[in-house]
Amino acid sequence: MNDILPPEVSKWQFVEEKARAVLEAFAYRELRTPILEYTPLFVRSVGEDTEVVEKQMYTFADRDGQSVTMRPEGTACAVRAYIARSQWNREPVTRWYYLGPMFRHERAQRGRLRQFHQVGAEVFGLAAPTVDAEMIAMLVALLAEMGIKSSDLEVALNTLGEPEERASYREALRGYFSNHLDKLDEDSRQRLQTNPLRILDSKDPDIQTLAAHAPVLLDRLGDTSKRHFETVRSHLSALGIQSVVDTKLVRGLDYYTGTIFEVKAKLGDLGAQNTLGGGGRYDRLVSSLGGPEVPAIGFALGVERVLLALAEPAEDFEPVLALFIAVLGDKAQAWALPVAHRLRMAGVRTEVEHRQASLKAQLKRADALKARLALIVGDNELQSGKLVLRDLGTRQQHEVTEAELEARIRQLVDF
Ligand code: HAM
Repeated sequence: MNDILPPEVSKWQFVEEKARAVLEAFAYRELRTPILEYTPLFVRSVGEDTEVVEKQMYTFADRDGQSVTMRPEGTACAVRAYIARSQWNREPVTRWYYLGPMFRHERAQRGRLRQFHQVGAEVFGLAAPTVDAEMIAMLVALLAEMGIKSSDLEVALNTLGEPEERASYREALRGYFSNHLDKLDEDSRQRLQTNPLRILDSKDPDIQTLAAHAPVLLDRLGDTSKRHFETVRSHLSALGIQSVVDTKLVRGLDYYTGTIFEVKAKLGDLGAQNTLGGGGRYDRLVSSLGGPEVPAIGFALGVERVLLALAEPAEDFEPVLALFIAVLGDKAQAWALPVAHRLRMAGVRTEVEHRQASLKAQLKRADALKARLALIVGDNELQSGKLVLRDLGTRQQHEVTEAELEARIRQLVDF
């Protein structure tokens, strides 16, 4: 769990601003839900046999003895809020997005934290394959706006079909892997019982080789599921989005049905944690948590991973300090206070010296803050009414009166 300080926080603010701008352009509205939820919400949605629920949740009894959990993800929370407000009675289609911290007790490493942050989006009430394509295009657009080009991304797609289709496939997989029990590690043997699909995305190279010859779900789906998936793919290529079908992609959360996807970065030094985001359809989740049958789809991006993929140093995202007011003496100090206040309220980022320091020390501080201009004010300047505005880039000096000050600053610094 990290503290996020300046200048690093500027990069965060940049990513968050871009996220809001793009998501709002796609007509999504922000949803804010509590960090704490009752534990059964995640057990019932994310799934009892998933890594997240089995090993990673921050779960504890509150003072009333109720089991609560710090949200490990946002989809379950959005669905709970959707059901709690009977949102389907208010509008046929609901588009929500969220930004915020999530908590998973994982083995921490680069790009993997215990408190991490997601930008997520969920849309309720739409079943058409055009929505799946729109959602993936939005994710790619979001990353592009943040500075990660689509040529540096790989979009992997798969479909999990309907739960009924998956049930018979699960048995086929169980049969296949049971014939190779000797090649399975402890983890995979356990998954064979609980969730054999998860063996497909094992990181173990031997198991990957084995999985390469396993039966493929896509081949066993009914016409409706296949057609939906093919339509999503054709809409994606019409949108100019390159994607690859990865029949081993399963995702780690139990609520998915139909289309699932992940976006990986091909650049940066993310190592094994190069999955920037993922998502998919969860057409049965609303009804399984007590709501009506409402189709839904969404994704979440990991903010820390996006930041690692962005090469620019945090300093490049720092806001510009337009003005540093260097003051010499008490009169100047008193004069500077209301002047700085007015400039600040007019949107001019201004720092005023409050220590009794030499001019040299003050200008050094102005440089350290990367101020664009310094206003030098002493008794003489106040008496003559001629203030000295120094451009700290070009080192040019400009004589200004108090009345001209704001306009001159705007001339010299573009905000
Ligand atoms: P997820 O794949 O579990 O999906 O997480 C989405 C993204 O969150 C990951 O791709 C990764 O970038 C980031 N992430 C996950 N765990 C960590 C961690 N420990 N440290 C840093 N980053 C992490 C979901 O959470 C689903 N709720 C997405 C979704 C929304 N599906 C439908 N709607």
